[in-house]
Amino acid sequence: MLQEKKIILGITGGIAAYKSAFLISQLKKLGADIWVVMTKAATSFITPLTLQTLSKNKVYIDLFEDSSSFIPKHISLNENTDLILIAPATANTISKISQGIADNLLTTLVLSSKTQKVLAPTMNENMYNNPIFQENMEKLKKMGYLFIEPEYGRLACNKEGKGRMANIDKIIEEVKQVLINDNLPLKNRKILITAGATREPIDIIRYISNRSSGKMGYALAKEAKRLGGEVTLISGPTFLSSLEGVAMIKVDTALKMKEAVTREYNDKDIIIFSAAVCDFRPKKVYKGKIKKREENLSLELIENPDILRELGSEKKGKFLVGFAAEDSDNIKSAIIKLREKNLDLIVFNNITEVGAGFEVDTNKIKIITKDETIKEFPLLTKQEVAQNIFKEIIKNLPSAN
Ligand code: PMT
Repeated sequence: MLQEKKIILGITGGIAAYKSAFLISQLKKLGADIWVVMTKAATSFITPLTLQTLSKNKVYIDLFEDSSSFIPKHISLNENTDLILIAPATANTISKISQGIADNLLTTLVLSSKTQKVLAPTMNENMYNNPIFQENMEKLKKMGYLFIEPEYGRLACNKEGKGRMANIDKIIEEVKQVLINDNLPLKNRKILITAGATREPIDIIRYISNRSSGKMGYALAKEAKRLGGEVTLISGPTFLSSLEGVAMIKVDTALKMKEAVTREYNDKDIIIFSAAVCDFRPKKVYKGKIKKREENLSLELIENPDILRELGSEKKGKFLVGFAAEDSDNIKSAIIKLREKNLDLIVFNNITEVGAGFEVDTNKIKIITKDETIKEFPLLTKQEVAQNIFKEIIKNLPSAN
C-alpha cells in the first residue's frame, strides 16, 4: 500500500517514543521506506539501534555528525520524501517548529522541507491546554500541518487526562489518507474558498455585519480537502475552529477580504465565493466610541467593491463559483448574477426557506451551471450540500470534459 513512499519519522523525547518501534514495524509491513530522525531527548526513551534494526536504515540524530558528504544532511535526507511524520511530537518540538527554530537535525529538516507534515502530539494535559502551546499548534494548522489529536487516558505523570499519543492504528490511517490519495478528483487542484460575513466598522466597538456563521464555507473547505484539493480558506470572523490541513486566512472587512482574494487568486484553479460580503460600509469610521447623544445619528454608507464581479471580469481561466442568497424562490436573480459576474456555476440559496441559509447546520439549494441548467436538492446538512456542489464542479471542470 505504501510501496515506494519515503517517510521521515521524527521521534522526540516523550514516553510514547517506545511505541515508535511498533509504528515503524507496521509502516514497513505496508511497504514504506522509513528514515528515522531522533532528537537527543528521544534517545533516552528508546535506543537508535532498535529503530535502525526495524527500519533497516541508518538512524540520524546529530546535525553535524558524518561531515564526509558535501550536501548537508537536512537537505539530502529531505530528497524525494513523501511525508514527514513526527510521532511522538512533544510540546517543545512543536513550539520550536511554529517559531521557525532550527536547533537540531529534526527541526532543521522540517524548516527546510516543503513536504506534507503530520504530527502526533503527546504531553501532560496542562501543557496541551496551555494557551501558548495551543497558539503554536493553531499557527501550524493554519499553514497546513496535520495534527493527530492526542487521546484521553493515563499519562506519564500518573494522572488521567488528554495527552496520550494517538494509537498506532489511527496514525497509520492518517498516513494512508495523506499518501494514498492519487485517485482523488481534486488532487493537484488549488482551491480558494471564502466564508462567513464581513464586518464593517462604525467606531472602535461597533460594526455593520450580517448573520453568516461561516458554516457553509467551512463545509466546502472540508469537502475540498477530503477530495484531495490544496485548500485555502479566507474567513470572516466566526466561532468555528480552524480546519486541519487547510491554509486559513482570517479577515474582517470586505476590503481586507478583497485584498486577500486578490493576493491568492493567481495560482488557484477553483474559486468559490460563499462569503456574505457586506455590500455597504460606513463612509466614516469614528475614532474612539461614539457617545450617546440627544439627536438621532445618521450613518452615511458607501458601496463596497463587488469582489466576485471584479474577478469574473478578468477571469484568467479560473473556475468561478458564486452563491446567490435570495429572499424568494425567484431564480431569475441568481441567473442574472451567474451571467453578470461571468461565473461557471452559481448556488441559489433561498434564505427564507425553513432550515436553509444563515447560521443553521442545513441548507436547501439549487445549482445552476453556465448553460443555465438547474438542479434542485432537498434539505440536507451543509456537509452534504458541499458534497453535491463539488460533484457538480468536478463534472463541469474543463479537463473533465
Ligand atoms: O455562513 P452560513 O451561516 O453557513 O450561511 C451560508 C450563506 C447563506 C451565507 C451562504 O449559503 C450564501 O448564500 N452565501 C452568499 C451570500 C451573498 O452575499 O449572496 P449575494 O447574492 O449577496 O452575493 C452574490 C455573490 O457575490 C456571492 O457569491 C458573494 O460572495 C459575492 N459578493 C457579494 C457582494 C460583494 N460585495 N462581493 C462579492 O463578492
